[in-house]
Amino acid sequence: MGWKQLAVAGVGVALALGMTACSNSNSGTPTNTTSTPGAVNWAKDVGVVLSDPSQPRWTMAEAQFKAAMPGVQIMFSNNDTSVEKTNVESFIAAGVKVIIYNSIDGAAAAAATDEAAKAGIKVIAYDRLIMNTKNVSDYVTFDSVQVGEAQGKYLADQAKANGGKGLNLYLFAGDVGDNNAFLFFEGAWKELQPLIADGTFNVVNAPQATQLKDTATLTRDQESSIMQPITTLWKPDTAKTLAEGALAGATTAQKGTVYVLAPNDQTSQAITDTFRADKAVTTIYSTGQDLALQSVQYIMDGKQSMTVFKDDKYLVQECVSLVGSLVNGTAPDPTIITTSYNNGAADIPASAAQITVVTKDNVQQVATDSGMYTITNGVVSQKS
Ligand code: BGC
Repeated sequence: MGWKQLAVAGVGVALALGMTACSNSNSGTPTNTTSTPGAVNWAKDVGVVLSDPSQPRWTMAEAQFKAAMPGVQIMFSNNDTSVEKTNVESFIAAGVKVIIYNSIDGAAAAAATDEAAKAGIKVIAYDRLIMNTKNVSDYVTFDSVQVGEAQGKYLADQAKANGGKGLNLYLFAGDVGDNNAFLFFEGAWKELQPLIADGTFNVVNAPQATQLKDTATLTRDQESSIMQPITTLWKPDTAKTLAEGALAGATTAQKGTVYVLAPNDQTSQAITDTFRADKAVTTIYSTGQDLALQSVQYIMDGKQSMTVFKDDKYLVQECVSLVGSLVNGTAPDPTIITTSYNNGAADIPASAAQITVVTKDNVQQVATDSGMYTITNGVVSQKS
């Protein structure tokens, strides 16, 4: 999809009070009207559409949905927008009351969302915002700008600790069809831009970032101009090809110690594998997000520096409560809906679930506490 479609989107952080006003038609007594999730028949009332089973993040979410909503129907869209549309339409035909919708492309998802609304079905956007439609009841998410800040800050802190000027910074972005990718980049830019501007970092592979180095706050168009050439589309293969291209265009001096903004764990694995295969690269500082199994192992082994854990358990718990409210026609829990995001058509009431920054220091603890993994003799495996 064209990035211009996203140009009007942005984060609108509002006070909880403001949110209640825009999301709650019975404002005044929100705490007493919070629904009883027990009234929901998960198998009949709810349909969950998840974007891409090849991304660990969404299979983690699937497991949480199965645990929290017994019998709920979950359909994967295989990262194909036409499959996604069919999935939503089959839930509409089945007569569910609420669709929990994790879209592939935020703008493309508006049409199916509007179809659902016409059939009287409520839509909750899951992790990724659905753009340009008023028909999104709620948006459950983490603070994606904060995720990007954590990634950028990690690299900035390492650079400051190591000292010097002209340190080699490589930038990679998520999928420009995913609104989150912009928010992650926005957060990372906040932390990295001052160090690009003062010469601490030299951006090796993204000339548009160097051109914009003195611009602290980028417009969507400017973000897009930087991100388009370095978009991984969230695909490890694309990430690998981009990393190969970046290294092919780099001088020996631009290798050595490198600082790599990698948008998520799968792309980070592909990028850092590629960098490690280049003998002129000696030290790699790299980011990620998701706490994917392989990245837990990579962090333990010193092959990836950090990740950000976004526990889907929180989002799914929020969905349990919000579905209850939507089915019963009551106000959403004000402790869940604490902010809003403008999707180009409306301010969508949203949550802001807690993130955890993970490095070698806490990776074993966080991975074990997540309930998803076991670690035996330095080897991480999926908990069955
Ligand atoms: C999610 C990330 C995920 C990425 C790729 C983003 O929208 O927020 O957690 O790694 O999509 O699936």
